[in-house]
Amino acid sequence: MKFPLMRNNIVREDLDAVIRHLQQDDPILTNGPQCAAFEAEWSQWLGVKHSVFVNAGASANLLSMAVLKLKHPEGGEVIVPPLAWVSDVATVLQNGFTPVFADIDRRTLAMAPKEILAKITERTRAVFLTHVQGFDGLTDELVAELKRRNIPLIEDVCESHGATHHGAKLGSVGWMSNFSFYYAHHLSTIEGGMICTNDSKVYQQLRMLRSHGMVRESTDTDLKATYRAEHADLNPDFIFAYPAYNVRNTEIGAIMGRSQLPRLDANVQRRTANLKRFLSRIDPKRYQTDFVIEGSSNYAFNLILNEADDDYVQRLMQHLRAEGVEFRRGSAGGGNQVRQPYLRGIVPENHHLAFPNTDHVHFYGFYIGNFPSLRDDEIDAICAIVNGV
Ligand SMILES: Cc1ncc(COP(=O)(O)O)c(C=O)c1O
Repeated sequence: MKFPLMRNNIVREDLDAVIRHLQQDDPILTNGPQCAAFEAEWSQWLGVKHSVFVNAGASANLLSMAVLKLKHPEGGEVIVPPLAWVSDVATVLQNGFTPVFADIDRRTLAMAPKEILAKITERTRAVFLTHVQGFDGLTDELVAELKRRNIPLIEDVCESHGATHHGAKLGSVGWMSNFSFYYAHHLSTIEGGMICTNDSKVYQQLRMLRSHGMVRESTDTDLKATYRAEHADLNPDFIFAYPAYNVRNTEIGAIMGRSQLPRLDANVQRRTANLKRFLSRIDPKRYQTDFVIEGSSNYAFNLILNEADDDYVQRLMQHLRAEGVEFRRGSAGGGNQVRQPYLRGIVPENHHLAFPNTDHVHFYGFYIGNFPSLRDDEIDAICAIVNGV
């Protein structure tokens, strides 16, 4: 592909950092001091107290919902976006909650605050909001209203590292937040993810949930002593508090993350500058340009038709393929999750039609590559291609 979705986000210096580690006589490879150091540096960068490094963004989603389940073993509803990644909905189901969908605002691609608030019932246990494609999905009213109603906000920031809301980094506002470090993301540990929180009790739960539910993974000495006293018949090294998972990451991933973190802010700036260049050059009569870009940290450039036009969309895809522009149709997660087979029998028939803004992006939205090493002349060439359909 002449214009790929992503190019070299793991660079020579990151690989060299791994090689230096491996050249030691007996390097630690499993979750160890490098993971702990990456967690501390990430927490500082984000502006939160605690971070837990896991093996995927989907695992961060999973543990967040597992923590919510510890709080609400009786179940309940979780408000989720129809435009997100599959794991934002699947992990809700896996933990026995009912996903309740709220349509998006086309200017942020996140759930529209008004739609979220309209879906709240006495059974709502959390709002699990995805900041889609680098856009800020928060409003002051939403944050204040959720606080007033005592409904936790869980932020999925897997596509939006470094994006901000009034200067506060996304992922530092909610009760918990999730990041992905999969290959094409703003920072990559090959596979990987992070869960962040200011809640010390949640932090201890996350550490145990990440590692088989093992009590010894907690850093709280009182908590460990209580478990030991209550379970004198058990070997203190093998007390399992929860039926949990193994979603740990390794020292190799942590070294890659630590090597990239100092470049992250500059990369975010470059992605934002690229986004502005794309938006100033694509044809506003044909394509949406009125995104809310304040505080955004573009993941990929979103090309969305203003109007539904099935003939144009086919010609656009043919043209992009012919010119070597890699793209994904439907934007985040392939578009409207409510259309997916895994939700059959769980949501009412034709439920997908209740989300017209998401359905528009599903059929008439695309994303194409935006990454720090994308040059201005390449952006201009891509814009000329999409304007020339
Ligand atoms: C919004 C969102 N959530 C979760 C994930 C899952 O992350 P991972 O692929 O690291 O499991 C992704 C993946 O791209 C994502 O975009």
